[in-house]
Amino acid sequence: MSRLRIHCFVLALATMATAQSDPRRPVEVKPPRTYKGRTIAQTMHYLGAPWLIRESREREEECSTLLECLGIERGDVVCDFGSGNGFYTLPICRLVGPDTKVLAVDIQKQMLTLLEKRAAREGLEGRVETILGTETDPKLPRGKVDLALLVDVYHELSHPEETLRALRDSLSSDGRIVLVEFRAEDPKVPIKKLHKMSKRQVLRELVPNGFRLVEQFDELPWQHVMFFGRAPDNDLSQQARQAMARASGATVGAPRSESAALGLVLARAFRLTGDDRYYDAACSCARRLVKSTHRDAHLLLFLTELDDLVEEPWLTDAIDDITGALLGGAGLERAAWPEWRAVRDANRRTQPADLVAPARAALDALDDEGRWTRDGTICVADYIVHMHQLCDLLEFALPR
Ligand SMILES: C[S@@+](CC[C@H](N)C(=O)[O-])C[C@H]1O[C@@H](n2cnc3c(N)ncnc32)[C@H](O)[C@@H]1O
Repeated sequence: MSRLRIHCFVLALATMATAQSDPRRPVEVKPPRTYKGRTIAQTMHYLGAPWLIRESREREEECSTLLECLGIERGDVVCDFGSGNGFYTLPICRLVGPDTKVLAVDIQKQMLTLLEKRAAREGLEGRVETILGTETDPKLPRGKVDLALLVDVYHELSHPEETLRALRDSLSSDGRIVLVEFRAEDPKVPIKKLHKMSKRQVLRELVPNGFRLVEQFDELPWQHVMFFGRAPDNDLSQQARQAMARASGATVGAPRSESAALGLVLARAFRLTGDDRYYDAACSCARRLVKSTHRDAHLLLFLTELDDLVEEPWLTDAIDDITGALLGGAGLERAAWPEWRAVRDANRRTQPADLVAPARAALDALDDEGRWTRDGTICVADYIVHMHQLCDLLEFALPR
């Protein structure tokens, strides 16, 4: 055995001994195979790096449109999280200007080396701070990052909760993280299922980890772009969550028009909490309403609020059907559909007044004993109280 090998052997034994005897040594956390029902994808190996800078990428993914929608300004502190070989890092350097370094985090040293070489070739050396993170700690500075961009990365994180906590801590007061993920809802996107994510799944995972969806960009050919801000620490207390969960029952027995408003509240509650109970309640409310023959704009708004979350054809069919009926009734052409989308988007932005008022009206229609008076179906009085709490909460919690 050579001296070097003996040296290594002794060193390894010594390390093992220290490791076993040191009670402070962190226990190695085994990566979970799934997270909230989703199988976590394997990390893309650095040998695949050329694929990230392939010539067809701009045409396929419209990368410059993505960069534009990020709204990066000079001097912004931007983190390209899971930067790979820096396909996005380098253009971001040009957007933030020469006085601000872009933080590029990756867990593969080789990726960062490739990135440094590309930066040097493009005359951008010194404009990127490469950070070799670990699976549980991205080693980002606290409270500094204005925008953390995760393109095709989140679904690979072996420890989503730890990483999200660290990302949350790294954000400046109005800092945001942006998830760009291939759309799981769209079978035409030519990427393996394991490497795609639905909006519903993203919300399910991000919201309970202290993030609030603040903006979306739905115009890329293959990917969702979802912006999240840090939810305030006191956002939704356990008590409030319980109240909202109990409120789910309030749609049962509500008059149809008001059911749509309550359903809308539930769909929004899912967006706010990522809690599947709201999702399920909103879906069963929608299914019930769709079965009835009643078609109105309230129902359409409710269904379109759900349409990017539900991956089943019944909803799309119902939306088409109701849109056709409404547009036909109003003498409008089908081409007016984009306007309905705009109504939906506006509705999401101006939610407190638009959503809470009809929900309140629904509640006002109850008699003193907490019953829906119009169709006589009994609704437990408790729910009313909780619905009021829910409305107050939504009013407080929704982005303005
Ligand atoms: C599919 S590549 C995308 C690279 C780049 N964002 C792009 O769009 O060109 C995913 C990258 O995320 C990195 N990654 C995976 N898990 C990570 C983690 N926990 N922290 C930082 N980077 C990670 C991988 O090493 C890989 O370079």
